[in-house]
Amino acid sequence: MKILVTGGAGYIGSHTCTVLLENGYDIVVADNLANSSMDAIDGIKKITQKSFPFYKTDLCDEAATEEIFASHKFDCVIHFAGLKAVAESVAKPIMYYENNLISTLNICKCMKKHRVPKIIFSSSAVVYKNDNPMPLTEDSPLGSINAYGWSKFMCEQILRDFAATETDFSVVSLRYFNPVGAHTSGLIGEEPSGIPNNLMPFIAQTARGIHSEIKIFGNDYDTPDGTGIRDYIHVMDLAEGHMNAINFANKNTGFEVFNLGTGRGVSVLEMITTFETVNGLKLPYSIAPRRAGDLPVSYTSPKKAEKILGFKAKRTIEDMCRDTWNFRR
Ligand code: NAD
Ligand code: UD1
Repeated sequence: MKILVTGGAGYIGSHTCTVLLENGYDIVVADNLANSSMDAIDGIKKITQKSFPFYKTDLCDEAATEEIFASHKFDCVIHFAGLKAVAESVAKPIMYYENNLISTLNICKCMKKHRVPKIIFSSSAVVYKNDNPMPLTEDSPLGSINAYGWSKFMCEQILRDFAATETDFSVVSLRYFNPVGAHTSGLIGEEPSGIPNNLMPFIAQTARGIHSEIKIFGNDYDTPDGTGIRDYIHVMDLAEGHMNAINFANKNTGFEVFNLGTGRGVSVLEMITTFETVNGLKLPYSIAPRRAGDLPVSYTSPKKAEKILGFKAKRTIEDMCRDTWNFRR
């Protein structure tokens, strides 16, 4: 089976490439390296001892995307490519809509023309409205408060309509919760450019001494220790979840959506203290005001993914903290 992995040089894409190669899939990676580098491609090759074609291509370039589809007979696309920084999407909404929607439309056009019948799409928990009761299920009401979230929502709608017309196609949208951690080799991991917005990369950079302290955004939430709760999932569990999605797509047609998380909420303080304990270090932190747009609590019901995909995250938050530090140190 031959898979086009878009955004395969990125954080989740690179980890998924290792899993695909180790499970005998042929892959072709296309990425414009807007938020990644060839280091990740070299890392995948080192880990797996396997080679694969890489295209430095902007998927918003229709002719260049078409050329990739014309050069290979793909069975499936895994579409990771996209811009993902929430705050940047609020400042530059048109750039986000253009990049995330045009790339997805170009891929759909090429899939239709070249009869590539399966796509796994990287969606996000950010597509859920922010006043839903927890846990979030796939039926929880949708809606966003930022352009990034709306771009994922719109891509899902495009793909839903696409699946309705290409009735022999299978479209699986995976709504990821909070991916963290790294490959145990330490050769690939999350490489945010600039100062990270997300908790785990900020913890890791603080452990390295890049920042003097972690600012905990609010300790007055209605949670057991007052800090925000999220559903962190190890990136290798997430990567493996794509195998479950491919198996599902092999047997089903139409559009289907699954949440991928652990179903377990972890607080900011719990993450910081676990990182300290597992890695034997001290992390300075202070309490700061709540961050605008933050939810107090977010976690998934993992039931649909467990029941239909047979997916269950295996790795613990200790694994997430250890592997993040192993990469970052
Ligand atoms: P990432 O930025 O590390 O990877 C995305 C990759 O896509 C990058 O390598 C980037 O260079 C590439 N890219 C972006 N636009 C492109 C274009 N027009 N043409 C070609 N390549 C392009 O992000 P990630 O964390 O690996 O996320 C992968 C996907 O999962 C994204 O679509 C993201 O929105 C989604 N997602 C991520 C998270 C998260 O917290 N990391 C959560 C939910 C969903
Ligand atoms: C953020 C995005 C969300 C995106 C997700 C995964 C916002 C408002 N939301 O969500 O759309 O889908 O990342 O990429 O940006 N925290 C601190 N100090 C920090 C950083 C974070 O206390 O320096 C806290 C946050 O308040 C939150 C938790 O840590 O309670 C997790 O934050 P983060 O990693 O940014 O993820 P999300 O808030 O889920």
